Amino acid sequence: MKKIGVLTSGGDAPGMNAAIRAVVRTAVYYEREVVGVIRGFQGLIDNEFEPLDSRSVKNILNLGGTFLKSARSDAFRTKEGRELAYHNCKKADLDGLVVIGGNGSFTGAHLFTKEFGLPVIGIPGTIDNDLYGTDFTLGYDSATNVVTECVDKIRDTASSHNRLFFVEVMGRDTGFIALRTAVATGALDVILPEANRTMEELLSEIARGFANRKTSNIVLVAEGNRLGNTFEIAERVKDHYPFIDAKVTILGHLQRGGSPSCFDRVLASKLGVAAVEALFDGKTDVMCGVVNNEVTFTFLQKAIQNQVPLNMDLLRISKILSI
Ligand code: F6P
Repeated sequence: MKKIGVLTSGGDAPGMNAAIRAVVRTAVYYEREVVGVIRGFQGLIDNEFEPLDSRSVKNILNLGGTFLKSARSDAFRTKEGRELAYHNCKKADLDGLVVIGGNGSFTGAHLFTKEFGLPVIGIPGTIDNDLYGTDFTLGYDSATNVVTECVDKIRDTASSHNRLFFVEVMGRDTGFIALRTAVATGALDVILPEANRTMEELLSEIARGFANRKTSNIVLVAEGNRLGNTFEIAERVKDHYPFIDAKVTILGHLQRGGSPSCFDRVLASKLGVAAVEALFDGKTDVMCGVVNNEVTFTFLQKAIQNQVPLNMDLLRISKILSI
C-alpha cells in the first residue's frame, strides 16, 4: 500500500481533526503518501482530493469540527455514485481509505468496500456514542462535557427562581448523552428512548422533587425519546402543575462544537494510528474502537447493526442520587 485517503463523513464531532492528524502522521511515519478527501464521500464523487503531509495537519489537534469538511452524501447512496467514487479513487492511485464517521458513514463504507474491494477502515466519530464495538466514539466525551457545563449554568437560574427546566440533548435515537449528563449534572429525571418513561412517572418524579424541597429541578430529555416533543412535555407538566414555572432549553448544535476534550484527543490519536497500521496489515471492512482500554476491530456491519445497550445501572444511580 503506497497511498491512502482519509475523509470525515456525517455529523462533525470534536476529535475528528485529531484523528485526521493521527492518520496523516502515521502514514508519513511509515513513508507512505496520504490525501485528504474534502466533504466526505461527496468529495470522492466530485474528485476533491488534497495531498497532505505532516505539516498540513499542524495546529489542528485542539480544533473542533473537521478541516476536511463533512457531508451527508445522497449521491453516494446510489450504485452509480459509488462507482464514480471508485473510479476517482483509482485515478488518484488510492490503495485504501480511512473513514471517520458514524452509522450512516459506515453503511456507505461497508457497501463501497464490498462492491469494489478498496480496503476501508472506520474510525468511530459521532457525539452519539451509538456504535457497537467501542466503549467511546470520538466526540462523545467532549459533547457530554459541553452539556454538563451548560446545565450547570442553567441550574443557576433554576435555583434562583425555583424553576423546573427541561433540557433537550442530542443523541438521535439513543440516550447515551442524556444518561451520562443526567448523572454528571444531578438531574431530577432523564427521559430516554431506551426506557419507557410514562407521563405519570415523570409527574410523580417532579412532585417528589418539589416535596423534597429541591429548589432547582432539571430533567434531561433525549431528542429521540418516546414521550414526545420537549415543549409538549413541558406544557403537559404545566397543565398538571400550574404552580410550577417550567422552561425548556434545547442545546442543539452547541453540543457538537468546541475544542475536543483531553480524552477525545487521546482516543483520536490512538485510533488514528491503529487504523493506518490496520490498513497496512491488510485489514478491511472493520471499525477500530476501544474496549476496556484496548484497541479492537469490529466488522463495519456489526458495528452498525448490533444493539449498543445503555448502561442501565447509571439510570439507577441517577435515581438514587436525585432524592
Ligand atoms: O449524529 C450526530 C447528531 O448530532 C445527532 O445527535 C443529531 O440527531 C443529528 O446529528 C443532527 O444532524 P444535523 O446536524 O444534520 O442536523
